Amino acid sequence: MRSRRTISRRRFVVSGAAGAGAGATAAMIGPAGANAHPTATPASGPATPDLQPEGPDQRAEQVLQQLTLEEKIAMTHGEMNPNYPFYLPPLSRLGIPALTMADGPSGVRVADPVTNGGKATAMPATIALAATWDLALARRYGDLVGREAWSTGHNVQLGPGADIARVPVSGRIFESFGEDPLLSGGCAAAYVTGIQTHPVAACVKHYCVNNQETNRTRYDAQLSERALQEIYIPPFAAAVRQGDAGLVMGAFNQVNGFYACEHPVLLADILKRQLAFPGFVISDWGAAHGTVESANAGLDQEQPSARVFGDALQAAVQTGAVPMARLDDMARRILRTMFAHGLVDRPVDLIPLPERAHGQIAREIAAQGIVLLKNNDGVLPLPSGGIRSIAVIGADADNASAAGGGSGLVTPTYTVSPLDGIRQRAGAAIAVEHAPGTDPVSAAALLPGPPPVPASVLTPPEADAGVHGLRAEYWDNPGFLGDPALIRTEPHVDLNFGFFIYTGFNAGSPNLPPTPGPSLAGPGALPSVRWTGTLTAPATGDYVLALTSLGTSRLVLDGQPLIDNLGLDLTPATATVTLSVGEPHEVQIEYAADAAGISGNIGAQMRFGWQHPADAIPSRVREAADLASRSDVAVVVVRDYESEEMDRPDLRLPNEQDQLIQEVAAANPRTIVVVQTGAAVAMPWLDDVGAVVQAWYGGQEQGNAIADILFGDINPSGKLPLTFPRSMDETPVATEAQYPGVAGVVEYSEDVFVGY
Ligand code: BGC
Repeated sequence: MRSRRTISRRRFVVSGAAGAGAGATAAMIGPAGANAHPTATPASGPATPDLQPEGPDQRAEQVLQQLTLEEKIAMTHGEMNPNYPFYLPPLSRLGIPALTMADGPSGVRVADPVTNGGKATAMPATIALAATWDLALARRYGDLVGREAWSTGHNVQLGPGADIARVPVSGRIFESFGEDPLLSGGCAAAYVTGIQTHPVAACVKHYCVNNQETNRTRYDAQLSERALQEIYIPPFAAAVRQGDAGLVMGAFNQVNGFYACEHPVLLADILKRQLAFPGFVISDWGAAHGTVESANAGLDQEQPSARVFGDALQAAVQTGAVPMARLDDMARRILRTMFAHGLVDRPVDLIPLPERAHGQIAREIAAQGIVLLKNNDGVLPLPSGGIRSIAVIGADADNASAAGGGSGLVTPTYTVSPLDGIRQRAGAAIAVEHAPGTDPVSAAALLPGPPPVPASVLTPPEADAGVHGLRAEYWDNPGFLGDPALIRTEPHVDLNFGFFIYTGFNAGSPNLPPTPGPSLAGPGALPSVRWTGTLTAPATGDYVLALTSLGTSRLVLDGQPLIDNLGLDLTPATATVTLSVGEPHEVQIEYAADAAGISGNIGAQMRFGWQHPADAIPSRVREAADLASRSDVAVVVVRDYESEEMDRPDLRLPNEQDQLIQEVAAANPRTIVVVQTGAAVAMPWLDDVGAVVQAWYGGQEQGNAIADILFGDINPSGKLPLTFPRSMDETPVATEAQYPGVAGVVEYSEDVFVGY
């Protein structure tokens, strides 16, 4: 930390009052009072004199004139740095600081574990912000994020997301502002304005028509010019024109046959001409394809490192394939943005965050975003005086893990779980008890197929009474060779490793055993795993047992091979068996991560699932229903898993939480369901419960915000920013050609009729 501080001070000293050794150059690009951001908080570093009256354009031009070809090329691609994974080195001789970028948008993702312990305020997801329909709040949200970015050493914030929620199961809806272009644009512009009241430039992403994670780096969105201009461009237009966003991030996907990062119409014609965007365009991480195509179309900076720019761009400029004027334009835009948004004049710093004060803002926004979807017979608000007991039910009600996974995941400064929030607000006069009901949620919820066989019905070999699950043995090779690297009990067989858990992208439950080490679960790991124990049916009847796996899997039941799955894709392999209640059956499940494709970002993916008779109620579900029946009120807290890189398989809540809600509601009519999701879920139990509260991913103060609403301390005033369909069949994108697409082509044939 100390060395970082030194570097950042030294980096900027050339434009400081002392101007130590910087000479004429420092004076030329030094801070200009007229250009410094008017509302920026003063840096705690040395005061910088008002040396230049010129605006950002002139200042950028002056620097540009002094750059060598190599320096210009270096500005057009990022570089890896241990403290800032997303980084552009400083141009120290000209007083230009480094670009230090942090992911978002639900707060600042501090990638350096040393800076503030890698923590920042985990804000409610931006979809919750959109549900407030309150642009002043959106600005406050951005203001907090901008301040925390700057105080943790970042001068670029990679957010907000301004993509439209077109597909209800799309993995990144939680990072969006919903399905309405006007609301999305208003929120995006206000959020950007808030961030940029600090010397931090906001990067609006992912431009453009980036609406699904399935096949995200390749799909070709085929849409009309009208849909493009009326639905998908407006949020970006607002962020750029009203919000003055400093950067735009080009998307991974293609649009009408061209990759977004080399799309002359999207970049040059629409963004830079029609919208008169003066800032710079960066690629999403690895989204640039052709050197000449990208540069000439309008991509200004490749991230995270030189793959198609760098030497290849230099050669293209030297042969004239990319005009020198275009390279100058790239460098000029980057420099201009840095001057215009105060990045040169007000260097970043490392300042402790006002954690509790910022937590209060997170709480306020989370509560304002909560949507009351149903309230029968005045079940809500909870009368503090009129009840003596509350059953809080849910495997993750006792932690605050409900958040979106992927690059948007923020490590919170502290957390308040729904159970804690309700307990605190209820006070000593109301008994608050907790029952999990189901198994906790992990990234494996993204796998398709029947739900996992729950821990309730599984027992490891030689287990003590009350211990559930199976014995898991992991090998660090796909062939079960040598000694297992890890042996432990796991609640169920449900793995989704690789991208979803490494580098802290994991928004899974802390109630699950910790993720195995990188040699077993990291990107490129090819483990094999064997699970053993017994399965005891909770009711007599026919059960469909299923293996969903990427890589070979097999199930042996009572010594007889039952399922063999080649696992070339995630299509479940099934077998039906008749089981009698209470009879234990020996299970042995083997899985090898040996399928092509696992070795990249995607790691091992495997589930042992089931479909059971309707009266098969696992013991933990019964215990939860029993607790509900002896309590005055039951609050069932449910969650899903959403993440970058994989869409949800369907609209169902994972781990049979629907069954849990149904059993609890049957036991107590005063059942309130608190839904912690980033997007719509199906609610087959809607008619059976007393109240439904859509709480989204509420950030680190989610528990207090939920309690504020349940007890009526805050009037629920959020409104849905997206449609909650009953089924995927009833949405405007119900055909395969529309989603997920056929042979890589996604037809936006619904045209402008998106969502509602
Ligand atoms: C995401 C971006 C993110 C970038 C850097 C990409 O995979 O799509 O939203 O900013 O990674 O983490």
